[in-house]
Amino acid sequence: MSEYKIVAGTASSKFAHDVAIQLNSKIEDVQISNFSDGEIDINIVNSVRGDDIFIIQSTCRPTNDNLMELLILVDAFKRSSAGEITVVLPYFGYARQDRKAAPRVPITAKLVADMIEKAGVDRVVTIDLHAAQIQGFFSIPVDHLLGSMVFVDYIKKLSLKNPVIASPDVGGVARARTYAKALNYDLIIVDKKRDKKNQSEVMSIIGDFKKKDIILVDDIVDTAGTLTNAATALKQDGANTVMACCTHGVLSGPALQRLSDSSLDSLVITDTIPLSKPHDKIVVLSATDIIAQTIDKIYNKESINTMFDNL
Ligand code: R5P
Repeated sequence: MSEYKIVAGTASSKFAHDVAIQLNSKIEDVQISNFSDGEIDINIVNSVRGDDIFIIQSTCRPTNDNLMELLILVDAFKRSSAGEITVVLPYFGYARQDRKAAPRVPITAKLVADMIEKAGVDRVVTIDLHAAQIQGFFSIPVDHLLGSMVFVDYIKKLSLKNPVIASPDVGGVARARTYAKALNYDLIIVDKKRDKKNQSEVMSIIGDFKKKDIILVDDIVDTAGTLTNAATALKQDGANTVMACCTHGVLSGPALQRLSDSSLDSLVITDTIPLSKPHDKIVVLSATDIIAQTIDKIYNKESINTMFDNL
């Protein structure tokens, strides 16, 4: 009888184990190692003929290695006559280059989507793509979950006195509006300018934020420039407290130091990317529950629509 099997990529090993525990399942025995020259070697220990496979792997740092490992895992399962192969990407790397923002630049989100699809994947599950339209870069089904599924209850329980949701840039307004609607809070917008990559500047703030408790929401915190600059501007001009909820804690380069030095009171992220070391301003919530629910529904051919109720 065919069944479903959960596979843990190296980047999402703990995440996949936590998902398997919630599904009362276990991780499929796959040996992942490197040849002497660094090339990746995969060996699936037991037969998977006809089985539905869920490979869990974030394409976070080291992005190229993790992406390549994912592609090789898919190839190995395909050639082992697995049934349907679903790739679960808690974090989809290379997503920020999603259009030709300047002449002679690549669209890496499309390139990576093509690579994943070409490897033989039947379906993708992911959380908070940088832009929802990236779903259309795949021609296979994409189940796109939202970070707000994890954060909304947490924010409610904080019982903030004068809460307001803030988008840290104009591009994030649709996402921020989802939070504002789900929580019935007002929405403000920080107008951010980015002339060089990884460097941002706050231009102006639209909306009433004086004496308010601000919750900045974003898909990614990378170098933390966006959030810490927004927090400085908001506090300088009269905000009471400023916290941030960001689905994917990329946290590269100066991020942790910026966070320590900043007027941001706290940063809440999920575990889609493993946190390299604890930080006193960072709280990590788990997204494993929404992935476990989704896997269960996909396998049982049920709609995932109810998971979007109240959002
Ligand atoms: C940009 O559009 C994204 O949503 C994030 O705001 C951005 O990637 C964060 O980058 P950083 O933390 O380096 O400012």
